[in-house]
Amino acid sequence: MPSGATEVNSKVYTVCGRSACQDSLNYTHGENTTESKLKLVEVNYENYDDLIDLKVEESQKNFVASNMYSLAEAYAVVASKGYAMPFGIYLEDKPIGFLMIGYYPDLEYTQKAFGDDEEIPDYVPSSYQVWHFMIGQDYQGKGYGKEAFRLTLEYIKTKPCGEAEYCWLSYKPENEVARKLYRSFGFEEKDLPKGWDEIPAVLKL
Ligand SMILES: CC(C)(COP(=O)(O)OP(=O)(O)OC[C@H]1O[C@@H](n2cnc3c(N)ncnc32)[C@H](O)[C@@H]1OP(=O)(O)O)[C@@H](O)C(=O)NCCC(=O)NCCS
Repeated sequence: MPSGATEVNSKVYTVCGRSACQDSLNYTHGENTTESKLKLVEVNYENYDDLIDLKVEESQKNFVASNMYSLAEAYAVVASKGYAMPFGIYLEDKPIGFLMIGYYPDLEYTQKAFGDDEEIPDYVPSSYQVWHFMIGQDYQGKGYGKEAFRLTLEYIKTKPCGEAEYCWLSYKPENEVARKLYRSFGFEEKDLPKGWDEIPAVLKL
């Protein structure tokens, strides 16, 4: 199997980098691995409209980019041969949330991705990032965020794009629900790097 590929039901899908949109229209994760009613489904031509329609509460809009913006970002990253993996979070066949994973294989890639203005903490090169994570407003507070995040980590731990030492994410200082959720999975808060407005938290893989 080529590096960066995952085998699901005997089919090989490449799930990161440029080939994501070429080769993997039907990747799902979680369907057969747990008793969960949730699964992660790669964004594709059939589901992107429904995922764009998912919104958070007005009071949460500052916590996360819109799914439309995130998908545009994913397109730009993948078109630049970078790593962005957007997924729908599904409750059985219903899209209820959105997730995007990033990957930083080494310092050279990380420097290109971050540009000159932002400090690069030492855990970022050689890491996966939970880049965007949201549950639609009608589905929040029912345990789906926690379960979807568990599936997300389970997937990241398969290291779908290659080796990495850490998983990290970041959140607005006032986002107490997110802070508590990530802490419950073992993420440790770090100092605010120069140029950041979100607090990073890190998990050793
Ligand atoms: C953060 C988010 C994904 C959590 O998803 P969710 O489905 O609502 O969360 P869950 O129902 O699985 O609950 C997870 C935990 O948060 C708590 N929680 C959920 N909503 C809460 C609220 N409004 N107030 C206080 N606690 C809350 C739950 O009690 C649960 O805690 P527990 O494990 O101790 O029981 C969701 O609220 C969301 O999409 N928020 C807006 C976008 C966002 O902030 N994304 C994260 C950016 S870093």
